[in-house]
Amino acid sequence: TGLVTYDPGFMNTANTKSAITYIDGDEGILRYRGYPIEQLAEHSSFLEVAYLLIYGELPTGDQLEDWDQNVRMHTMLHEDLKGFFSGFPRDAHPMPVLSSAVSALSTFYADSLDPFDEEQVHISTIRLLAKLPVIASYAFKKSLGQPMLYPDNSLNLVENFLRLSFGVPAEPYELDPDVVKALDLLLMLHADHEQNCSTSTVRLVGSSQANMFASISAGINALYGPLHGGANEAVLNMLRKIQAEGIKPEEFMEKVKNKEDGVKLMGFGHRVYKNYDPRAKIIKSTAEDILNKLGGNDELLDIARRLEEKALADDYFVERRLYPNVDFYTGVIYKAMGFPEKMFTVLFALGRLPGWIAQWRELMEDKTTKIGRPRQIYTGVQSRDYPAGR
Ligand code: CMC
Repeated sequence: TGLVTYDPGFMNTANTKSAITYIDGDEGILRYRGYPIEQLAEHSSFLEVAYLLIYGELPTGDQLEDWDQNVRMHTMLHEDLKGFFSGFPRDAHPMPVLSSAVSALSTFYADSLDPFDEEQVHISTIRLLAKLPVIASYAFKKSLGQPMLYPDNSLNLVENFLRLSFGVPAEPYELDPDVVKALDLLLMLHADHEQNCSTSTVRLVGSSQANMFASISAGINALYGPLHGGANEAVLNMLRKIQAEGIKPEEFMEKVKNKEDGVKLMGFGHRVYKNYDPRAKIIKSTAEDILNKLGGNDELLDIARRLEEKALADDYFVERRLYPNVDFYTGVIYKAMGFPEKMFTVLFALGRLPGWIAQWRELMEDKTTKIGRPRQIYTGVQSRDYPAGR
């Protein structure tokens, strides 16, 4: 084991070469396929970015039209898969429901799982993009005890997801174009982030040549944790607690700095960004716009702003180069849109899906891919004999 490098948390180990996403953590730069996130946020859409991440180039007008139509055509879930949702307890967290349903997709499409067959990979890509929002909204409906609606393919991906989440059969659902636009933007900002925990999980599982559904189901479970995608839910819980208990931001900061009960400022800090997360910058201004429009809980946004202001001026955070990350302001927006906390990480998963697919495909297309198999430093007892007479 002399040659084994010890790098817990993969702080310095590159596990892959990738041409998809570029991050410069010191400068706060994020680019998808070379395009700066700020330009994409201004001009592009979630589905266009999904195409860009997966195929490497922006689609032409016709390609985008085809892509959109194709995704719309595959929104229906097999009726037997719908039955799946009734097997969970009513208060089930929608993240494990999501990962279970995605895992189950490989049983419904068992004839198109070959990771090296271009046609099969294509159809799995479309199916996942089209069906994940439907699965997500059904997990939500199940928790509300409301009926699941059928998708309406005259609507685009984001519109359909909103209608399936908030619509009821008894009355027509009116889409709010500002909400559609804001959600589209948030999904786009989450679409990829190179080798984060869930994406690395997708790659590790995929390296055994597991199919796309199995690999991405594992990624969803990795995203569930509070240090990763679960942070957006944890941020809102933190803001709520501060609001409910009337804690002053200064007092809360003292707790964080003293590491009292391991309390952290959720939504702050990042393994790679040691400067302002560029996504958080865009999201902060969206939060202000959408809350003005929807009249959400301004007080929570206010607490978030005050915490940020205090943190950015505090030595503890400055020395450790801790800045707001993507999760700091998203929860306040999702809440204003009407989503409960439990759905926040699900929304992250919907956004991250194109990145997981693109990275899984890149792995499969790379002829030099080897199975992921980290080494260890053994710290146990070297060798001993089983006690005689036992
Ligand atoms: N609040 C208070 N202290 C913090 C925080 C925080 N949010 N984040 C890091 N620190 C401290 C940490 O205690 C350590 O201090 P010390 O040197 O005294 O031991 C130092 O900063 C370095 O932190 P680390 O935990 O070694 O850094 P890491 O790269 O291993 O962890 C992180 C990165 C994102 C897990 C961490 O910053 C964190 O737990 N943040 C809160 C959870 C969060 O917001 N996660 C979302 C990440 S972004 C999107 C996503 O991945 O989903």
